[in-house]
Amino acid sequence: MTKLEVSKKLEINRNENSVISRPRRLRLSEGIRSLVAETEITPKQFVVPIFIKEGSGIKEEISSMPGVFRFSPDSSLDAEIQEINDLGIKAVLLFGLPKKKDSLGSNAYNPDGVVQQAVSRIKQTYPEMVVICDVCMCEYTDHGHCGIVNAQGHVENDRTTEFLGKIAVSQAQSGADIVAPSAMMDNQVLAIRQALVSSGFERTAIMGYSSKYSSSFYGPFREAASSAPSFGDRKSYQMDPSNVREAIRETELDIEQGADMIMVKPALSYLDVIRAVREKFNLPLAAYNVSGEYSMIKAAARNGWLEESRAVEEVLTSIRRAGADIIITYFAKEFLSNRQDSRVGSRGK
Ligand code: PBG
Repeated sequence: MTKLEVSKKLEINRNENSVISRPRRLRLSEGIRSLVAETEITPKQFVVPIFIKEGSGIKEEISSMPGVFRFSPDSSLDAEIQEINDLGIKAVLLFGLPKKKDSLGSNAYNPDGVVQQAVSRIKQTYPEMVVICDVCMCEYTDHGHCGIVNAQGHVENDRTTEFLGKIAVSQAQSGADIVAPSAMMDNQVLAIRQALVSSGFERTAIMGYSSKYSSSFYGPFREAASSAPSFGDRKSYQMDPSNVREAIRETELDIEQGADMIMVKPALSYLDVIRAVREKFNLPLAAYNVSGEYSMIKAAARNGWLEESRAVEEVLTSIRRAGADIIITYFAKEFLSNRQDSRVGSRGK
């Protein structure tokens, strides 16, 4: 444009009746809006967390997370995996709820443990389903901390990472495609990578919970998994919500240690962290839309304070828009089945 053209354009735009810049033209119909939508959510970007409870014939709703259930690793689980698969979802993240807990979390690396049973079951019935296992000790220890606690009540870093390596190997042995360490111990990714390689599992990928914050939004999960610490808190290992540069540092360390994928957790109060990590690193980035983020929408919707399906879509869109490739969310099934229903509905009109 010449200078004259530019100044003319500005003049017209300054005029109250400007017809040139009218962003609303692209908002006039559903068709146009979807043509110019910048952010998309597809089933293959979802990972569904599943709670596996030792026992048989179990499908019990978690009171703090309406619509989310604990399943035993048998036909109850098969039915759930079938539903997930039918919605086009490709991956699940497993958490184990053992009958017995002890100070060393020994059921976490029991070859016949509850998660190990679930992995082999899923791999038998749905070999294509990507199975990710959470690697942590808090669901398996009687004190509820994410690692080995010494006589002074401190979580011992390097002893814990040895155990995390053992847990990851037993999960890989049962068929897990990806292991996801969430204990927030220093060097946990390295310890797991070394343990996997020395046991012949160099093909098992690691999804690091690289920046996992010490968050109140894990509250409903701790009820779901009975994993609240019996003393103290997790602030000596999980990150302080004030920090974003530290998230970059933690992510850098995970990548150096051999992580194949990285994560920010929770998602909603940390969208800026997702963006910062996205801009700095090239690895696939997951965001964990955690239990509290799920339950607060459920609670508000139950009270009639907001429209659930719109709120869920907005939340998931914000996480993708912030830069996450993958969303780990308890909303995945509900979101996709609502979308299928509304498509069927509009075709019928
Ligand atoms: C285990 C773990 C937790 C979550 C994922 N892995 C609980 C915690 O750190 O207390 C939370 C997930 C959620 O809230 O949905 N360490």
